[in-house]
Amino acid sequence: MEIINYIKSYDDLYSLFKEVKLGSRNKDEIKKAFESSKYISAIYKKGKIIGVGRAFGDEIDCAVICDLAVSLNHQSKGVGSKILQSLVKQVNHHLRIILYAEPGKSDFYEKNNFHTMKTAMMTSSKLPLELGRQIGFIE
Ligand SMILES: CC(C)(COP(=O)(O)OP(=O)(O)OC[C@H]1O[C@@H](n2cnc3c(N)ncnc32)[C@H](O)[C@@H]1OP(=O)(O)O)[C@@H](O)C(=O)NCCC(=O)NCCS
Repeated sequence: MEIINYIKSYDDLYSLFKEVKLGSRNKDEIKKAFESSKYISAIYKKGKIIGVGRAFGDEIDCAVICDLAVSLNHQSKGVGSKILQSLVKQVNHHLRIILYAEPGKSDFYEKNNFHTMKTAMMTSSKLPLELGRQIGFIE
């Protein structure tokens, strides 16, 4: 198992996102998001991606961690935590590191020393807020 800081194949990454049903972006959108992120951690096993995450920040105040995904066969074996900790290490020079957890995933982040924020807010011209309410991440 190797952990590296780049994506070997965006076809494989797209398949991983499909497998774990992470978002509804197409391959080009996923590629653009990763290419625009300074920090990437990916774990490969026998040449195949089994886990990934990305982060970006302003290098001083605030970094954001996104798109953490572990293939179904490799979940609950510490892979996600390894990727998260690797990203935290890379962006640890920021004053704060934030992320938003999908509903039901906060245990994973709490086990990795993240804390629920009481005043997190969001706005979007693209995401229907009603959908956010249905999914459960907007009040
Ligand atoms: C969330 C995710 C990245 C965790 O990766 P992982 O490799 O399974 O996590 P780890 O093995 O390091 O940590 C396991 C612990 O985190 C918690 N956890 C892991 N997956 C969880 C899930 N789907 N729901 C709730 N808690 C979860 C559990 O407490 C678990 O402990 P356990 O195995 O003893 O039950 C992975 O389940 C995943 O890719 N899910 C689909 C995509 C996704 O939801 N990404 C996160 C978006 S916020």
